[in-house]
Amino acid sequence: MSRYAHITGWGMAIPQKVLTNYDLEKMVETSNEWILSRTGIAERRIAAENESSASLGVQAALKALEVANVHPLEVDLIIVATSSPEHIFPATACIVQDQIGAKRAGAFDLSAACSGFIYALDLAAAAIRSGALNTVLVIGAETLSRFVDWNDRNTCVLFGDGAGAFVLQASEEPGGVLAGVMRSDGSGAELLTLEAGGSKVPASQATVLNGQHYIRMNGREVFRFATRVMAQSTLEVIQKAKLSLTEISVIIPHQANQRIIEAAAKNLGLPVEKVISNIHRYGNTSTASIPIATCEALQEGKLKAGDTVVFVGFGAGLTWGAVLVQWTGPLPTKKRVYPRRYRWFARLRSRILRLWRRVEGFLWGKNAT
Ligand code: UT7
Repeated sequence: MSRYAHITGWGMAIPQKVLTNYDLEKMVETSNEWILSRTGIAERRIAAENESSASLGVQAALKALEVANVHPLEVDLIIVATSSPEHIFPATACIVQDQIGAKRAGAFDLSAACSGFIYALDLAAAAIRSGALNTVLVIGAETLSRFVDWNDRNTCVLFGDGAGAFVLQASEEPGGVLAGVMRSDGSGAELLTLEAGGSKVPASQATVLNGQHYIRMNGREVFRFATRVMAQSTLEVIQKAKLSLTEISVIIPHQANQRIIEAAAKNLGLPVEKVISNIHRYGNTSTASIPIATCEALQEGKLKAGDTVVFVGFGAGLTWGAVLVQWTGPLPTKKRVYPRRYRWFARLRSRILRLWRRVEGFLWGKNAT
């Protein structure tokens, strides 16, 4: 029997606080007109003091589990793709694992900058298809506002906070994640960096004075690289899945710049309506941008069961990649059929299970606070 990895649940979480281009006009020398015309961004969300990458990740994960109708104890592995982890260690994924009560799950962070969600999706699907795992939670969670230099107009207008999550489950039904490509080119490492705080440049008074704890970027070069690899990796993953571009219903790209999204559509010869964009609302939320755009595409009916979708992203590293998915939605719950003389046993079993879930929910609720 072949095994397939289906995306059966999805969820997103965004902070309440909105920072508009007009707010930024008061902070740095910029204008709403410049930001809108060069990036397509009108506003972004900023995490409150009591929010973090983990807390946003937890909210998104719980919603995704609810859509999939999966209990946290059924999760085998949690991957948090993030460019703004809570700490170098422990992993943000472990904090999420504890807070959602996924007591049976392994957990680790994946660092591939804005391509992280694509990498995590591809790896999770491979683990499921191989038979190693049954249920994986893939999360993209960011609070990049904490790493932005609010005096640097080259970067502070671009980034926003938020999280998105997918539940992946094994099934014998054909579909789900069909192919993925992951690429990197470390020779472009210096184009987009957060230099200090690691082992090469440990945090010190000097690194703080030099602003080396902030994101620094060569925007023009990253732009050039992005427009090249977006179309290239989309075509590569379609070829790997043995499909053609005409069979693709929708493309959900990393939301970094509306002009990059439009250039990708043009290079692929696709109408721009086929390429999902919500960058005007959230800016660049790094690893969270693809799952957030997916949740909104589903809400707006732009992505439906039966569609073939390509997720494609790029980021610091340099990294890039794409994943092709035959979208199915939540798996139908399999009802066990008991012979008539054993129906009393089925009723007893479901009562015990319901009771057990209530006890567990009570204990879990107590632990979460
Ligand atoms: O997830 C991956 C993360 N990064 C990206 O995807 C970034 C990719 N790059 C970009 O999106 C674009 O390069 C930017 C939006 C960052 C910049 O747009 P651009 O059209 O490439 O502008 P530029 O860097 O060529 O700068 C043009 C001018 C410069 O002034 P001079 O040197 O021509 O006088 C900048 O100083 O625009 C100036 N500028 C600004 N002006 C007003 C740069 N940022 C701003 C700003 N407001 N916020």
